Amino acid sequence: MDKKKPVKRPRMDNPPIGARGPIANGPLHSRPLVALFDGRDCSVEMPILKDVATVAFCDAQSTQEIHEKVLNEAVGGLMWHTITLSKEDLEKFKALRIIVRIGSGVDNIDVKAAGDLGIAVCSVPGYSVEEVADTTLCLILNLYRRTYWLANMVREGKKFQGPEHVREAAQGCARIRGDTLGIVGLGRVGTAVAIRAKVFGFNVIFYDPYLPDGTDRALGINRVYTLQELLFQSDCVSLHCTLNEHNHHLINEYTIKQMRPGAFLVNTARGGLVDENALALALKDGRIRAAALDVQENEHYGIHAGPLKDVTNLICTPHAAWYSDASSTELREMAASEIRRAIVGRIPDSLRNCVNKEYLTPSGFGESMNGAAGYNYNPMGIPHSTTLEPLSTTPSVLTPHSTLQDAPTHMTSKPESSEVH
Ligand SMILES: NC(=O)c1ccc[n+]([C@@H]2O[C@H](COP(=O)([O-])OP(=O)(O)OC[C@H]3O[C@@H](n4cnc5c(N)ncnc54)[C@H](O)[C@@H]3O)[C@@H](O)[C@H]2O)c1
Repeated sequence: MDKKKPVKRPRMDNPPIGARGPIANGPLHSRPLVALFDGRDCSVEMPILKDVATVAFCDAQSTQEIHEKVLNEAVGGLMWHTITLSKEDLEKFKALRIIVRIGSGVDNIDVKAAGDLGIAVCSVPGYSVEEVADTTLCLILNLYRRTYWLANMVREGKKFQGPEHVREAAQGCARIRGDTLGIVGLGRVGTAVAIRAKVFGFNVIFYDPYLPDGTDRALGINRVYTLQELLFQSDCVSLHCTLNEHNHHLINEYTIKQMRPGAFLVNTARGGLVDENALALALKDGRIRAAALDVQENEHYGIHAGPLKDVTNLICTPHAAWYSDASSTELREMAASEIRRAIVGRIPDSLRNCVNKEYLTPSGFGESMNGAAGYNYNPMGIPHSTTLEPLSTTPSVLTPHSTLQDAPTHMTSKPESSEVH
């Protein structure tokens, strides 16, 4: 990584100060290059982008693995959560105008630095709210009903002959009705969890300092105004806040001491919210009765490399709460559609979910990005998933890490509204 290299700005006539110019596009320009940074499969994205862009995949885990052509020419980037883009990483891209996170969290991108460089960052919120909420309830139910551990005993051949054996094996199974579930962060997922949890008989409380008064009344749940109060009252704590610079290790040695002895902890939000060393100690000494984590602090290495490796009262899933076959397809369509809007429309005005508008230098934005007058890209022509054509070709390999595919030109047109999920 050569950090000293000056950042090359794209060449433009009268470039706006502090901003990258419009995406050159249309019959007089070569196709804009869009790259999937940390994956290989573009089969959902290609039909949406193929008439307006060349699509490449990099399958990289860091920017060092990204092909120079992509660093120099890509105007659009799609990325999952396996790659991190710091300021230094972002500076390597010479023509980038938009990054779309295929997911809802943008904690792996320095969104301010991107804005300063004139790169819009977008996320895809909402695509998996139901899946994450359902998974959260599934984990909560497993902690209360010990289903995971009981099923493992059966698989391992344990014999249950009569109620004594069941009582022994199922010790710790708890009744839900009347227990208090404390939700930290009442956004989309937190709200969906609250609605579900009420049906199971939980007394639901939440802590979210950023919400206006009245949310509690709309949902028929109770609000507390400090994390300490939530931890003090909750039999089960479930984390649903975004990870940001203010809440890293929100659950730590100090805050664990504020929890009810023997409470449960569930985290389907972000691994960085929990200090895993403190959690491991609390689980081992029973201060936290059991925990369920869909997210870990260092997901590259998994729990086997960290302090939680020999903790038994713990369920871990592999950051899969978001996934269903339906949500996965919708997510990828929505991400590709955002890139498409950037190419055929205006940045940031045409974007639905730009998260760094406040950092983007206003000068130069809001202009048409369609370089050639009279060239009709049909911005309304984004297909619905049910109309996606099968790919006729698969990308051919350029280098071990970068593959480019010149997109075919034909695409079925459908009104934009049909793409809303
Ligand atoms: N495990 C998965 O597969 C998966 C999938 C999608 C989202 N997520 C994660 O789930 C979390 C929730 O997603 P969402 O779409 O509901 O987000 P959201 O933005 O709709 O809601 C987040 C809420 O957290 C609140 N918040 C922020 N900081 C807080 C703090 N310190 N204390 C209390 N509340 C705080 C915000 O005010 C907001 O209401 C995010 O962390 C997201 O990254 C995980």
